[in-house]
Amino acid sequence: MLGWQGLLKEYKEFLPVTDETPALSLMEGNTPLIPLDNLSKKLGIKLYAKYEGLNPTGSFKDRGMVMAVAKAKEAGSQAIMCASTGNTSAAAAAYAARANLRCIVIIPDGKIAMGKLAQAMMYGAEIYAIEGNFDHALTMVRNLSEVAPITLVNSVNPYRIEGQKTAAFEVCDQLGQAPDVLAIPVGNAGNITAYWKGFKEYHDIKGTGLPQMRGFEAEGAAAIVQNKVIEEPETIATAIRIGNPASWAFAVNAANESGGAIDSVTDEEILQAYQMLASEEGVFAEPASCASIAGVMKDLAAGNIQAGATVVAVLTGNGLKDPETAIDTASFEPIVLPDDQAIVFQHILGHD
Ligand code: F0G
Repeated sequence: MLGWQGLLKEYKEFLPVTDETPALSLMEGNTPLIPLDNLSKKLGIKLYAKYEGLNPTGSFKDRGMVMAVAKAKEAGSQAIMCASTGNTSAAAAAYAARANLRCIVIIPDGKIAMGKLAQAMMYGAEIYAIEGNFDHALTMVRNLSEVAPITLVNSVNPYRIEGQKTAAFEVCDQLGQAPDVLAIPVGNAGNITAYWKGFKEYHDIKGTGLPQMRGFEAEGAAAIVQNKVIEEPETIATAIRIGNPASWAFAVNAANESGGAIDSVTDEEILQAYQMLASEEGVFAEPASCASIAGVMKDLAAGNIQAGATVVAVLTGNGLKDPETAIDTASFEPIVLPDDQAIVFQHILGHD
């Protein structure tokens, strides 16, 4: 049995794949839709997590990157580049390594999670850490791509959106139809754009229905919600620490067309959801991902999501990406004991 063959083969007819497109893959996609039974019971809805942390580099970025890098290679490009809060750089670096391309990444110094930096370094990217934020880094790579023969692989590259829309196809296949609500974190707003495009295309062909799109920014970086550029965005969820989303208008359109909304959640709400998801469901997702779960809880309390609704929350990245936030957030530390079985037993059992 061949098994899963990666996005470019599995969804060839929905993607700009030609006979000339290289068969690039790290076997991305096909991520689980995990029923969150404990939270569903608690919240009175049917809640599922689309767990994108199980992609090859641990985030949803692999879906868009496999498409963008394959097309760059097809066009004869020798180099790719991106600005990143971490996950895009990890995915770009991995697929560039596989496709034998030079990979340049610009990141905000000190503001990307340790696991993501480790990945970009190991995959062999050229890494520049600027003393500025993601928005400034994105402006730089956009400008550089105008004057140098380097392919830009941020989500302003339309092939990224094409690859990422496949997650919506999978959700429909896994549920048998689109959910009532799709809850998703919003940073640069490429992913909400991609999901909406995917749901619409699948519905046109397969009649799978359309969900309400509910996107959630971090409160300290809530440009769309506040309808103004945030010059100095700040949030514990560094992946979505973005003050001027490139796909702003597309995100607003997805929310409006679907009868959903773009809202924000506080760092406190994000961290609460992060901890709850891990300790009550055994699902470890990075903080930015948990903006979707925090948002679902906020919307339920506000009456924006109905009891009994089928809700899919997108968990965009793996919790292992950001061990520092995990250790800072957990409410206890390991108890250090001597190498003595009797003492260890005594601590565990509470008696001799
Ligand atoms: N969740 C995670 C874990 C992310 O890494 C990102 C974006 C988002 C959500 C938001 O997705 O930008 O499509 O709205 N990370 C980008 C990066 C910016 O550089 O890795 P979006």
